[in-house]
Amino acid sequence: MPVISRGEVSYVTGAASAGIGRALVELLVGQGGLVIIADLNAEVGAKLASELNEKAGSMVAIFVKTDTTIWEDQLAGFEKAVQSFKRIDYVFANAGIAEHPWLPPFNPETAASRPIVKPDLATANIDLTGQLYTAALALQTFERQEIGPSGFRGKLILTASVFAYYPSRAMPMYAASKAGIINFMRSAAQYYSTKNITVNAVSPNLVDTPIAPDVLFVPFRERKLLSNIDLVIEQFQKFLGDSTINGQALSISQDHVWAHPPDTYMFEENDPACDLISVELFKLFGDSTK
Ligand SMILES: NC(=O)c1ccc[n+]([C@@H]2O[C@H](COP(=O)([O-])OP(=O)(O)OC[C@H]3O[C@@H](n4cnc5c(N)ncnc54)[C@H](O)[C@@H]3O)[C@@H](O)[C@H]2O)c1
Repeated sequence: MPVISRGEVSYVTGAASAGIGRALVELLVGQGGLVIIADLNAEVGAKLASELNEKAGSMVAIFVKTDTTIWEDQLAGFEKAVQSFKRIDYVFANAGIAEHPWLPPFNPETAASRPIVKPDLATANIDLTGQLYTAALALQTFERQEIGPSGFRGKLILTASVFAYYPSRAMPMYAASKAGIINFMRSAAQYYSTKNITVNAVSPNLVDTPIAPDVLFVPFRERKLLSNIDLVIEQFQKFLGDSTINGQALSISQDHVWAHPPDTYMFEENDPACDLISVELFKLFGDSTK
């Protein structure tokens, strides 16, 4: 399994709770890495950073209070990371929330007496826009630094979900956001493939974390339908260090792991037009990428 080089720096969003982000932070610090923890939860995030520093006997973790949906918050976090640790080798766009219903429940009997409401897009704001802000900062930071100890300018890893591929009647905003993340990842991986930058994603099914109230997990525990967090973290690890994997999404459900290869859904006759769109758009954008 690839490992990071000692002293490499990671920026992890959504790492304050006892979930996937925190497990990532523990893995990275355990491998001799330095971490920036960016999260909304200042109390828990700051405590985590100081515990890690105390245990290491040196500054290995910095907490920055960040709302990932606010560009200026994320920009300040990246600036703090570069100021403190000089560069960022890995960025984990991980902060996310479970579905907030975007519309009231369907009920034709009461609908006519209710006003039409503006949808609640909180899920998409955090799970899509927030992660895209993180990605934009990561890619521009990588562009501004030399190749690092593991042989890359930097690596971006996004936390998606199996619902990027599976429709979910209860989670349309979550599914839309995670699907957006996956095709963004594939597109960015294509663009950066010649630029010493890798972009990948991990797509778990339900993992027992504070993302949802405990009651939601009860039937999954009973039916052994939860995915193991250690197995999820192992998939992130496959993209670290000198791994050259790019443009891949690794999915996890219970103890199964499978890879989603680069998109091959289209029929062959569609390829030349898709490729020519990139060539012609780059001309319009003034970008010398082929
Ligand atoms: N737990 C699961 O079943 C599961 C499955 C698939 C994918 N995921 C994804 O994994 C990621 C992490 O989820 P988790 O299960 O560890 O959840 P979690 O609730 O344990 O952790 C999420 C963290 O993100 C932080 N956060 C939320 N909104 C934020 C914002 N706007 N700005 C900054 N921080 C914010 C929270 O404070 C929390 O610390 C999410 O993207 C989630 O969609 C989770």
